Amino acid sequence: INLTVASNGGNVSSPLMYGLMFEDINHSGDGGIYAELIQNRAFQGSLEYPSTLTPWEPVGGAVLTLQNTSVPLSSALPASVNVAPRSSAQRSTIGISNPGWWGIDIKPQTYTGSFWALGTYKGQFTIKLQSNLTSDIFATVTIPSSCQAGKWVEHKFELEPKSAAPNSNNTFVLEFDSTSGSVNFNLISLFPPTYNNRANGNRPELMAALKALNPSFLRIPGGNNIEGDVYHYPWRWNETIGPLTQRPGRPGTWGYGNTDGLGLVEYLNWCTDLDVTPVLAVWSGMYLGNDIGHILSAEALAPWVEDTLNELEFILGPTTSTYGALRASLGYPNPWPLKYLEIGNEDDLYTNGSTTYAEYRFKMFYDAISPVYPELTLVSSTGDYTAVGGSGANATYTDYHVYTRPDTFVSMFGTFDHVSRVHKTLIGEYACVQGNLKNEITGVNWDLPKFDWPVWVGAVSEAIWSINAERNSDAVIGMSYAPGFQNLNSYEWTVSLLSIFKYSHANPTQPDLVSFTADTSQTVLSTSHSVIELFSNARYNATVPVTSDTSYGPAYWVAGVSEPGAYTFKTAIYNATESVPFNVQFTGLKQGDKGTLTVLNAPDGLSAVALEEGVVQNPVTKKVTQLVAGSGGAFSFELENYSVAVLTT
Ligand code: AHR
Repeated sequence: INLTVASNGGNVSSPLMYGLMFEDINHSGDGGIYAELIQNRAFQGSLEYPSTLTPWEPVGGAVLTLQNTSVPLSSALPASVNVAPRSSAQRSTIGISNPGWWGIDIKPQTYTGSFWALGTYKGQFTIKLQSNLTSDIFATVTIPSSCQAGKWVEHKFELEPKSAAPNSNNTFVLEFDSTSGSVNFNLISLFPPTYNNRANGNRPELMAALKALNPSFLRIPGGNNIEGDVYHYPWRWNETIGPLTQRPGRPGTWGYGNTDGLGLVEYLNWCTDLDVTPVLAVWSGMYLGNDIGHILSAEALAPWVEDTLNELEFILGPTTSTYGALRASLGYPNPWPLKYLEIGNEDDLYTNGSTTYAEYRFKMFYDAISPVYPELTLVSSTGDYTAVGGSGANATYTDYHVYTRPDTFVSMFGTFDHVSRVHKTLIGEYACVQGNLKNEITGVNWDLPKFDWPVWVGAVSEAIWSINAERNSDAVIGMSYAPGFQNLNSYEWTVSLLSIFKYSHANPTQPDLVSFTADTSQTVLSTSHSVIELFSNARYNATVPVTSDTSYGPAYWVAGVSEPGAYTFKTAIYNATESVPFNVQFTGLKQGDKGTLTVLNAPDGLSAVALEEGVVQNPVTKKVTQLVAGSGGAFSFELENYSVAVLTT
């Protein structure tokens, strides 16, 4: 393949080209990146997931009872656990234990904990981290009770293990002396050190996995999780802010309740910590799993539009405004830099042909928001421009999602070549989730098995999809893989969508960007992660035209330039029968100029990351070669089938 790369004449690249999408799916929030170690810390209940003691266990023969005491910790957290001796004669140490979110990772570092207690107890509380398998106690601390009759009192403590536990099969224990009767406990919390040492923050190694992708935006908080499910409980920003005692939690969309400890402020801090732009989504009046009758009328939607204005005032408003003042009272006098607001999620789906989104739902948000926040770009969620076409200049974006097969991704290479340049597309979710069908280019079939893990051939097809987006970055502002995380202990993404709505978690397979367990050393970075890391860390300012003596396939490419002579050339090879020789001539470069070629590949196209006997395996190999330009400033190299490569000069 002979290619000539021009020095200018392309499109300015979108600064947002690679980003992240996050929602609490696959226990990626609670039990995932949100670093809280205690599962069911506050006995939160909802219509769908009633308050429960699971997975708490009694210690020392204690009797545990879930109670709604006459004095609740708060109206948001009315339930608590009463820990009582078996009989008034019992004189011993009793308490409760919690296994964490499928384990507790223990390292020699400071763990910060707290709990609220109600009772008259005057003795000491002992808190421990101990093994489930041996008699090892890794950390213990004793603090005096500050209990006062008839009043909930917060107790704080720190645990300092001296050494790491050999595995995460460990338990948290809270004990006291049973002599003076029972004690009620609520909001029992334990955090390891977090990313950037944020209070109520995120797991460092999972944040590092995201940071490695050099992301530019974070799309939050859904995804389907903003919508709620048949229980009709969309994500409500104002129930996710303030002290944890004030957050009731909600039934999430993905088969488990959300604590909302990871709330709006935490999401925005996450953006600050990764230095990325938030793309915030709000609910647009469509419930999941229901028929058209469950799309809100304009009248019913009006309070939600009003509430979005309140949310925006909380994020962007001056401290003299009602909600700006609320933000300041939580310790954030300065607004967050929000520039993108998405109205809904996938409003082209599940609507039984309804056109209400284009008719009035998007418009109601647009008409209310744009006069107040003219700088805010409103993003529609339908993946087309039906809703935004008639709107003003700051409503020209749409969010386009694609989950498909490798062949289909490759066949979609020209998708954005001829689309509108007035309107713009955010590819808010994409992933290769299913194998090819013989001789058939077709979308994903949700009822057929999906890949267990992102596989290399899929990641190559995603690379070609990314090249397609980069070539058209005057039309595509950015892209984010989804879902971002998979908790290997509990996940439900690629079950048939129908069964999601019925809460069946039958199909245990799925591809996600990063998989993890409670054990912080067992994070699995997918093949897709490898591709995004390579491409996102090789940004450039503008594309440049490439002329070739051959058409696309089996090689696909894009070229860009950051400053004169500093070129970036990206390519991916799909379905080549032999290795592909390249001769790439960059305008203005001369013989002897240097280049660096980085090539990703994997032993065979279907190899995937895998956890085998606790060992993380990612099959992707990375080879970096220094190249020297030959005559005329051309770089020559060969790439094997399924290579994904970046050449920089
Ligand atoms: O990424 C998983 C789900 O796929 C998202 O929640 C939804 O937007 C899409 O259908």
